[in-house]
Amino acid sequence: MSKIGIIGAMELEVEQLKSEMTVSNIVTRAGMEFHEGTLNDASVVVVRCGIGKVNAALCLQILADLFEVTHVINTGVAGSLNAKLDIGDILISKDALHHDMNVTIFGYQAGEVPQMGCREFPADDRLVKLAEDTCKKVNPDINVCVGRVVSGDQFISDKAVKEGLISGFQGDCAEMEGASIAHGAYLNQIPFVIIRAISDKADDSAEMDYPTFEADAAKHSAALVKAMIKNI
Ligand code: ADE
Repeated sequence: MSKIGIIGAMELEVEQLKSEMTVSNIVTRAGMEFHEGTLNDASVVVVRCGIGKVNAALCLQILADLFEVTHVINTGVAGSLNAKLDIGDILISKDALHHDMNVTIFGYQAGEVPQMGCREFPADDRLVKLAEDTCKKVNPDINVCVGRVVSGDQFISDKAVKEGLISGFQGDCAEMEGASIAHGAYLNQIPFVIIRAISDKADDSAEMDYPTFEADAAKHSAALVKAMIKNI
């Protein structure tokens, strides 16, 4: 039977899911509260991992080892790197990579973790399709794209940095956890998908837009997660 780990970095990315689920158990590890129970007829573990790649990686490993989840979904918000993705739209990961990994001096591609054998971690095709189909069904007014998540321990709010993420990595959205969740899921052989609603354009307007739009964007993403999980 499926058991789905659902990770959000911030409380507002998981609060709706936690309030709507039936909780059977709460376990604290590494300062994170893992809420185990059922949501929309699915067995789930919902957790706020905190911001950044280290928090996300720790959380993934706890979900793998302690809860033995069969699938992982990362829900949250992101800055858009793609002109087709506006604030409020949704990006579903085709794959994810670390934009702040750089060992090019020894011949690796920018973003490639040495000795892994791949630069980008592919999301699970079935989860990607399910997320896309569910989004079109339950949120027909929301523009949804499948694309690349690029992650780093930085909030992107500078046009030149944004351009570098587009030209260097062909990123469609930037955030701060997805690649670590993807990386951990890849090592543990757990199918994953990242779902991110756009809160800002990752440029000089991001500082203003992010606080204005993050709550609504986070709700869009969580609503899609809730709708899709019963079909996993
Ligand atoms: N999450 C939401 N917007 C972001 C941005 N511009 N950079 C990094 N993470 C984000």
